[in-house]
Amino acid sequence: MREYLVSNEEITEDSTFDVVVIGAGIAGMTAALSIDPKLKVALVSKAPCCESSTYKAQGGMAVAVGADDSISLHIADTLRVGQGVCCEEAVEVLTGEGPKALEYLKSLSAVFSHNDQGLDLTREGGHSRSRVVHYYDYTGKYIAELLDNEVSKRSNICCIIDAFLIDILTDEGSTTGCIIKEGNRLAILKAGAVVIATGGYSGLFARSTNALSSNGDGIAAAYRAGAAIADMEFVQFHPTAFTTLSGKVFLLTEALRGEGAFLRNAVGERFMLNYHASADLAPRDVVSRAILKETQRQRSKAIFLDARHLGRMCLMNRFKQVYAELARNNIAMEQELIPIAPAAHYTIGGIRTDLWGKTNIAGLYACGEAAATGVHGANRLASNSLLEGIVFGRRAAKIINGGTFNTRLSSFIYKSTKKRQGSLPDISLLRDKLEDVAGVARRGQQLKETLNWLQDVSVLDYQEKQAYRVKNAYQLAKLLVQGALMRQESRGGHYRYDFPEKDDSHFKKHIIQQWGMEAMVQ
Ligand code: SIN
Repeated sequence: MREYLVSNEEITEDSTFDVVVIGAGIAGMTAALSIDPKLKVALVSKAPCCESSTYKAQGGMAVAVGADDSISLHIADTLRVGQGVCCEEAVEVLTGEGPKALEYLKSLSAVFSHNDQGLDLTREGGHSRSRVVHYYDYTGKYIAELLDNEVSKRSNICCIIDAFLIDILTDEGSTTGCIIKEGNRLAILKAGAVVIATGGYSGLFARSTNALSSNGDGIAAAYRAGAAIADMEFVQFHPTAFTTLSGKVFLLTEALRGEGAFLRNAVGERFMLNYHASADLAPRDVVSRAILKETQRQRSKAIFLDARHLGRMCLMNRFKQVYAELARNNIAMEQELIPIAPAAHYTIGGIRTDLWGKTNIAGLYACGEAAATGVHGANRLASNSLLEGIVFGRRAAKIINGGTFNTRLSSFIYKSTKKRQGSLPDISLLRDKLEDVAGVARRGQQLKETLNWLQDVSVLDYQEKQAYRVKNAYQLAKLLVQGALMRQESRGGHYRYDFPEKDDSHFKKHIIQQWGMEAMVQ
């Protein structure tokens, strides 16, 4: 019998839906909007729309619609950046359905940035063509508000805001709904289909471009429900994150380098050509590691983004959000170098799904950053994530629309176990540890020590109530560190000082972890 984080007596009410979608970023809202309007949908989110990673996305959405572009070039770029472990069918689906995803947004009246020739397609790292459709430098906010507005018009979608997913209910291997905490009450939402679109776990790192709420809560709940979790060790660090005067991490979009900005080291040298033929537009993993090596070589942490030559008018118009934020931090980017450092930005690991968002648990689906379709391989191509949200959100809805629903929606039974007294360790300790041990470059010995420490913490034994988020964080940290320790090679968003080369003979595969089973390379 399964154990849940809460007990039956704590639940005050329950309600029944056809489908529950957890997460109101691009993937969740697209899925909810694409579900048959005859079905009753609950769209549950723990934070306001402006805290989602979608809302914070600046760059844009990669779609092969340029005159010199093709789906096969988009496929080739995605596979190359993904370093040999992409699921090729997923890449074909993502890129092939790109133009339709763009049409979908246009059908909701999206009008992206244009120039005289049509759509203003920009370039980002790893792309062989300019193919990033954008809305100035706040594409995510633009799309999120558009979708949010559509959701508000739909009478079949019930939005439950500020609600935290605690656990996914299962009965004899099928999903029967979920338990959420809304305000101070705990409620069961019974449903035959649950879609997890809760985003990634970059917020587990001390330095992240995501909100702290990007804690991987949906992935942790799916793991406890028995879902297979894949690729947790692959974490994408964005090379150019700026720290504001108040200590917040703020993304400086890669489109700046796409438009000609470049990096300089502590003594003012441009260094990226020493690391990759595409220099400042190399894939993100390469640029983040080059920054690390350059800081070690110069014995100085100082690295700068230089956008001065782009000129005030271009910077103010094209990069409105970045320009304004830097100005608030007393930096005139047309005159000054901007100090930057990498930060955790996108997590590739998550709930393993097929090309339709199906997991190994009947009725449980995942899409967007929470899912691991294998589409990104070991490293995601820039601006493929907004596209992923639309394409796989729509596919999950399509399969749910055509499916039959589980009508045996029993409430859960809680089995109590021996509990430990005391408080859980502080979450900021965990964030600092992960930053140190599982950041841009990792070492086996430190990973091993950290895994031992995490095993010792064993958060589920703690009696402490309400600490759901902390428990999730510790569980996912363990999966991440375990994956990073097992992958004795370097590939994409996973670099080991002690195994600096790629090892195709053992690791051109995925690391799969499942509750109660040994982690395996598959
Ligand atoms: C960026 O604007 O640099 C981020 C875009 C992305 O993560 O794909």
